[in-house]
Formats: sequence, structure tokens, C-alpha cells
Amino acid sequence: MGKLSVPAVRARKASRGVGVPLVMVTAYDAPGARTADAAGVDLLLVGDSVAMVVLGHDDTLSVTVEEMAHHTRAVRRAGPQAVVVADLPWLSYHVSVEDTVRNAAALIRAGAQAVKLEGGAKRARMVEALVDAEIPVVGHVGLTPQSMHAMGGFRVQAKTAEGARALVDQARAVEAAGAFAVVLEGVPDVVGRMVTEALDVPTIGIGAGPWCDGQVLVYHDVLGLEDRVVPTFVRRYADLKQAGVDALTAFAADVRGGRFPSAGESYRLNPEEAAALGLDPVTGGQASESVANLHA
Ligand code: KIV
Repeated sequence: MGKLSVPAVRARKASRGVGVPLVMVTAYDAPGARTADAAGVDLLLVGDSVAMVVLGHDDTLSVTVEEMAHHTRAVRRAGPQAVVVADLPWLSYHVSVEDTVRNAAALIRAGAQAVKLEGGAKRARMVEALVDAEIPVVGHVGLTPQSMHAMGGFRVQAKTAEGARALVDQARAVEAAGAFAVVLEGVPDVVGRMVTEALDVPTIGIGAGPWCDGQVLVYHDVLGLEDRVVPTFVRRYADLKQAGVDALTAFAADVRGGRFPSAGESYRLNPEEAAALGLDPVTGGQASESVANLHA
């Protein structure tokens, strides 16, 4: 299992000088997990953002538990050192406690070490039930994408004094229910600080300012694989979309120009076997024709 355990993450409270900030990045498949793990991130999040950045949906609402389990299995097969957290998708933890525990168990059996769910006090009962079933939980408050219709879109939250105080209460409720960390999304930076100072468990921010105990970004945003929408809080560290277009354009040009594959990129028939077929082992033409051509 990973070099960093759930209890070790729980203990990292960088804002109080306990450890360095946590680094979390999303991962949806084995190559992505291997890449992020080689970079030494602390946590891999199999996020329901897979719906948008991989599966082509406009929001996260259509992804299912089975799809989340499928991507979690792929991430686990990479054998990452980082702690793997999988998102419980919309409606997989809203209906009943039994449903919630069973759905979370499907993600744990797929290879996650913890699950993440969105919402504050009204999800506390589900968080308690999961923790009771020995399933570690990461909370997620602030801008919660699964509530996009109720919120009227992807909007920055807690922009008023009242909203900021309410957010602190929501985060505290999730912590009190047993969450070992809380993702804080889309809130003003000072509100991110207020919530971080109010909690004993680490906060992991995304668009929540620099004072959280850790930061999370979407893999495709960091690497510039997703270039259609670049939110304010994203810092791109590469432009792999353009690098990919350039590489594939060069490949297409080589194929169309007869420059790919070369001899070194091809398998060769043993000369005796080629002779038995009457073929030139290099050109594949009739051996007699090749000899005739040589003398032409
Ligand atoms: O699904 C996801 O990518 C997330 C992050 C935005 C935290 O939940």
C-alpha cells in the first residue's frame, strides 16, 4: 500500500506547522496514475470530473458508481504509492445509508483507500455510517459541482459574511462526522483560511486560496490536456494538448509521405525463409525481379 496512509494524511496540518502542504491530483487511468505517482504526489483522486475531462459530458452528474469503480481499478493497477481516494458520484449517497455504504464498498473493492462525497451537515449521517463501516471519508464543501443546478451553475460560494460563517459550520459538521480531510472548492481565499483554521483535519483547496493545508488540481488542467475552459485557479505546467497535436501531425505526414515505418521499425523475415518463398528478404519483391533489377 501507499507510502502515505490515511492517518498520516489526517495528521498533516500544514497551516499549523505540522508537515508540508498536501498535494492531490486527479487520476482516471493507469498511465495518469503512474505519471502523478512518479511526480511524488500524496493523494490521487479518482474524481467524478472524469465525466467531463475524459468521458465528454458537460457536468459530473451522469457518471455512475460502476464507471467510477472501472476508473478506480485502472488507477489501482498502476500500483501507486499515493493514497487513492475515489469520488462517490451523484445520487450514490443520497438515498439511504445502506445504499451509501454499499456504493462506497464497491469503490473500496475497486482499489480506493477512501471515498469523497460532497455536502455539509445534511451528509453527516452518511459520513458517520461510512466511518462506522471502516471506510475513510474525505468531505467536500464550498462549490460542490454535483449541486450545480441547485447553485445555478459553477459559482464561487461563501461570498458574504453570513455565507462564510455557514461554510465553517458545514465543514465542522463533516469533520465532526468523522471525515479525515475536507476538500474546499471555489471560495474566496480568506474564507479558505477561516475554514482551515476552524478545522483540526487538513483542508485541501481548489480555488480556495493559499492558506489551505493542501491543494488539488485536475490532471488534465495541470498538463494542459484540457484547453477548452481554463478556470482562474488553474495553473498550467505544460501544454500537452498542443504537443500531442504536433506529434500526431508529424506522424500523419510521415505515413502519407511514405517515411513511416522505416526498416528499423519493421520485422524482418529470415533470408532462408524469404528465399523459400522466392522473395527478396529486404524489399519483399520477387527475388528474380530484384536480381533482374540489379542488372538492369
Ligand atoms: O472530481 C474532481 O475532480 C474533484 C476535484 C475538483 C476536487 O472533486
